[in-house]
Amino acid sequence: MLNFEFKNPTKIIFGQGQMEKIATEIPSGSKVLMTYGGGSIKKNGIYDAVTAALKDFEVVEFGGIPANPEYHQLLDALKVIKEEQVTYMLAVGGGSVIDATKFLSSAALYDGEEPWDILANKIRTEEGLPFGTVLTIPATGSESNSGAVISNHKTGEKFSMGGPGLFPQFSLLDPTVIRSLPERQLANGVMDAFSHALEQYMTYPVKAGLQDRFAESIMQTLIEVGPQVMKDPTDYDAAGDFMWCCTMALNGLIQKGVPTDWAIHAMGHDLTALYGIDHARTLAIVAGSHYRYNLDRKKAKLAQYGERVWGIMDGTTEEKALAAIKKTEEFIQSLGIDTHLSAYTDKYENTATEIADRFTTRGWMGLGEHKDLSPADVAKIVEMAY
Ligand code: NZQ
Ligand code: ZN
Repeated sequence: MLNFEFKNPTKIIFGQGQMEKIATEIPSGSKVLMTYGGGSIKKNGIYDAVTAALKDFEVVEFGGIPANPEYHQLLDALKVIKEEQVTYMLAVGGGSVIDATKFLSSAALYDGEEPWDILANKIRTEEGLPFGTVLTIPATGSESNSGAVISNHKTGEKFSMGGPGLFPQFSLLDPTVIRSLPERQLANGVMDAFSHALEQYMTYPVKAGLQDRFAESIMQTLIEVGPQVMKDPTDYDAAGDFMWCCTMALNGLIQKGVPTDWAIHAMGHDLTALYGIDHARTLAIVAGSHYRYNLDRKKAKLAQYGERVWGIMDGTTEEKALAAIKKTEEFIQSLGIDTHLSAYTDKYENTATEIADRFTTRGWMGLGEHKDLSPADVAKIVEMAY
């Protein structure tokens, strides 16, 4: 196991029927900015429950945050924070609303000219405006980590940011919120969390036995409960496991003491920036070709994953690794998610060179656990995913 430090300060309040607890988590006298998305919370009762819980606070709202939150829109919210002298934020939504709130948390205390620099120049946020979250869609783990991903339509970029100042102070995780999620979003959640476990696992062995088992158990649980929640989102036990898997897959725990990859996410974010494809689906597009392209260097872990997660016991290491990739793709497809770029856009022909050129311009010359996956390699992987 590699050396590590681990601190995750986010308090998790898990389970149904506890909305009123948010009032005791927010310091009394706070002026609260409640952030939310395109309106799902007004249809499923979450908005009413949250506003009832906040009855003793002065609350301003900023709704309409879209999937893949957009920098220029968030500048309007930043204005509200400053004009209204907001002291606390409550994000009510999924990864997009929570990430938007993290950006605002950082930007509210940033004294540079252009807050986009926080993303473009990878400025670490040591301190942010405090916030909590009410999660409405299990997927990203943003409710329990200190990262955020923000898009900029003018530059066509989708960049990440983070820092220890951006952990939510608390997150309310009520598994019943998934009842109103469309099938597409349920599938996205399973896919995103599965990919998070893979990105922090599918590298090379470092004898971190418990870390490997944590990641494998998250993947095994998702394989079990993913189809259950898609069939019946009112199944509370399955919903609870699903939600907790998503949080645990990206709250920092499983990445400790092991090398991590994240090349699939790097390529995926540009597929969203180029074509607006859902985040989780971009990962589904790239995963198979990434693992096939890097088979030689990842095959020990691929074979271990094949054995332990999929029960593939026959064959050589390479045969098990290849069978594991196939099983993974079949699982993704069983969720109703296409694994080829051409299923999402007709204009895919130049995507490989476009993404490779973007990475070169940004100086992203070596991705992956060995920091040596070049833009030329990226082009080949993306092309294999057509
Ligand atoms: O906007 P509304 O109307 O609320 O609808 C949303 C949205 O259309 C809907 N939804 C959410 N909860 C619902 C619901 N519909 C019915 N019932 C509910 N209970 O679902 C749609 C998708 O929401 P979104 O927040 O975009 O989904 P997700 O949680 O998958 O977040 C995706 C974003 O997170 C980023 C992605 O890149 C993307 O921008 N990520 C953030 C990460 C992080 N901070 O750690 C890591 C991830 O890898 C990812 O990059
Ligand atoms: Zn993700």
